[in-house]
Amino acid sequence: MEQKFCVLGNPISHSLSPQIHQLFAQECGIALSYEKILVEGDFEETLKFLQNQGFTGANVTVPFKEEAFLLADEKSTFAQKALAANTLFFQNGKIHAFNTDGMGFLRDVKERLKFEIHNKNILILGAGGAARALLAPLLKESPQNLFLSNRTLEKAQNLAKVFGVPFLKWEEIQNAPPFDFIINATSASLLKESVPLPPFTKNALFYDLFYQQTGFTPFLKNAFQHGAQNGEDGLGMLVFQAALAFEIWHKILPNALSVYDFLKKK
Ligand code: ATR
Repeated sequence: MEQKFCVLGNPISHSLSPQIHQLFAQECGIALSYEKILVEGDFEETLKFLQNQGFTGANVTVPFKEEAFLLADEKSTFAQKALAANTLFFQNGKIHAFNTDGMGFLRDVKERLKFEIHNKNILILGAGGAARALLAPLLKESPQNLFLSNRTLEKAQNLAKVFGVPFLKWEEIQNAPPFDFIINATSASLLKESVPLPPFTKNALFYDLFYQQTGFTPFLKNAFQHGAQNGEDGLGMLVFQAALAFEIWHKILPNALSVYDFLKKK
């Protein structure tokens, strides 16, 4: 019987997850259904409904990742570090929560972009759920420095304390020494707003977690206008986090790179 999956969020209409999972399924010879579900009511009720309807799993996106984590019965280590879940597996009446965002990001950076994180100076802009999910996987790679900065200082201070990393004041980013890797984990691009541009090294990589289907995000546009040579948006992370979710459900790791290339060319 065909297994049922979905992605839960609000808004959800632009999600590429159904297409990505169907491409993986085709490649692996698996038949499944995968739908987008707009959650407008109670999230917990939605999860009960999915379990009653015999769904095998769900991806979770904005703004339900934290709630999904709290409602789960079992939580993976990365989900516990992120305090958020983007992948749920329904098994024997229980909800198992995972977070593949951070590892999806890391694999995109290492496997697709071939960018070495070890010994690099990293700046993460933002201190919300998206920033939090990156911290544990990035720190495992032993960067030279990893700074956090956020518009609201207190949130950067709190997150920096939890992970034992330094923070920079938002207004002082321009005065910092140059960074090799600058990650925009704020939701500013969603609102078409820009964030401050830090000093950067010649081959620095700018990475916006946000993905938009046409043109560059405001963050990348600003970086390129100021001489940055390398900039990426969140499509790679999206595909790699989906591949890791697929592996959790189906025990097969699909080829994220070929699906990325296919989506990029469209
Ligand atoms: P997410 O789960 O996407 O991380 P979040 O937890 O609501 O969402 O966090 C949003 C992040 O984007 C926060 O760091 C927020 O900064 P504040 O803590 O100051 O609110 C940041 N953010 C949102 N809009 C921004 C903007 N226009 N400029 C700078 N930072 C912004």
